[in-house]
Amino acid sequence: MAKSKTQFTCTACGATSSKWSGRCEACGEWNTIVEEAPFGAGPAGSSLGSAKGRTIELSDLSTEDRPTPRTVSGVKELDRVLGGGLVPASAILVGGDPGIGKSTLLLQAAARFARQGVKTIYVSGEEAAAQVRMRAQRLGLTQSPVMLAAETNLRDILTTLEAERPQLAIIDSIQTMWSDTVTSAPGSVSQVRAAAHELTAFAKRKGIAIILVGHVTKEGQIAGPRVVEHMVDTVLYFEGERGHQFRVLRAVKNRFGPADEIGVFEMTGRGLAEVGNPSALFLSDRGKPSPGSVVFAGIEGTRPVLVEFQALVAPSPNPQARRTVVGWDSGRLAMILAVLESRCGVPFAGLDVYLNVAGGMKVSEPAADLAVAAALVSAREDAALPADTVIFGEISLSGALRAVAQTENRLKEAQKLGFTTAIAPKGGKAPTVDGIALNRVGDLASFVGDVFGAGGDA
Ligand code: TYD
Ligand code: MG
Repeated sequence: MAKSKTQFTCTACGATSSKWSGRCEACGEWNTIVEEAPFGAGPAGSSLGSAKGRTIELSDLSTEDRPTPRTVSGVKELDRVLGGGLVPASAILVGGDPGIGKSTLLLQAAARFARQGVKTIYVSGEEAAAQVRMRAQRLGLTQSPVMLAAETNLRDILTTLEAERPQLAIIDSIQTMWSDTVTSAPGSVSQVRAAAHELTAFAKRKGIAIILVGHVTKEGQIAGPRVVEHMVDTVLYFEGERGHQFRVLRAVKNRFGPADEIGVFEMTGRGLAEVGNPSALFLSDRGKPSPGSVVFAGIEGTRPVLVEFQALVAPSPNPQARRTVVGWDSGRLAMILAVLESRCGVPFAGLDVYLNVAGGMKVSEPAADLAVAAALVSAREDAALPADTVIFGEISLSGALRAVAQTENRLKEAQKLGFTTAIAPKGGKAPTVDGIALNRVGDLASFVGDVFGAGGDA
């Protein structure tokens, strides 16, 4: 056996070190290093195996070895995020906050795949089989030919998979699984890593597609599924705000499809319902035009999505004014505020700024810059934009506006939802979309001056 000294592992990135420190040197996170028993070593001796690694030439791949067609579940929002369906023998991680709806999503997906003729096993380490069946009943899925197992011991799970040979295995969750070759407790980094490694390696070898569920906690206390991300082909995150019914399944890594693709669901009393037209849902509770509210025509993956930015600007009672953001990047907000102040003469010093994306959606596109700037100035000047207008465009530090990709798709989506005007940067070819007047602006200062009559007086 190799030395069995304890080692220290970062719960965020999985890096190991021989001593504890407050901050992980690999990923820079604070307070994420925990003490762990080391990985069990293999048999002593040379690491050269007797079964030699076999190589083949790329051109020698026969048609049987080429990727087989994907299986679609029939849940369009899921199939699209997977890149067009489930790839046989692929490994997928579905991460998300506890209680967000991962088990619900995957039980529904399991039922749909099973009904498509995919032999599916759902292994629950968190609930007894009877509890899973109760949930299935509530979701109206009891007639689906999904096999259930309530198991946490990795050896037992592998034995079951070996005996049953399913085409799809769902492991809910990876934090509850434990391998008896690792001495540390279930949920620890070593256990999560070992279990994920064994499961994915086994599944690849046997041609089983595998979906691992992983809880992420904000504090990073329990081993986050981050350590698993490198081992799998596809990483999906299930996001949403607890108070909202919307849930977004987002591909952050996908070897078999585009990353950044999203699927939108709504949590109902009978499980998750697909949302085929997210724009309509995200804009559904919009009232009269109000100061600080701006509709952004965004693109999520391959699909246009309209969302509403809401800003509130108020005199700050504190020496240090507040900047609070939900659904967008706070660093980006600071940049937009600085550009508005120094290029457009619209100061925000002494003012508290709150920015929110309605509906619990997260936006990461730089194309939202102009919509955010418009929301901020609109709130500050207490002047509402017309309700029939959408805005998009990237802002550079000089205050110039940059054209963004897929202008035509954005305009078409706006037109579909009844908007009549779009404000977008100059540059590039201007597509014409019937029913949408396109108002093209060159830089932020003239936009602020034209639309709000603000700025220039700082
Ligand atoms: P769950 O799938 O158990 O979350 P996770 O596996 O991510 O921890 O979902 C838990 C929440 O979903 C729970 O608070 C109740 C809610 N829910 C519904 O609103 N409707 C339903 O039909 C189901 C099954 C759950
Ligand atoms: Mg669960």
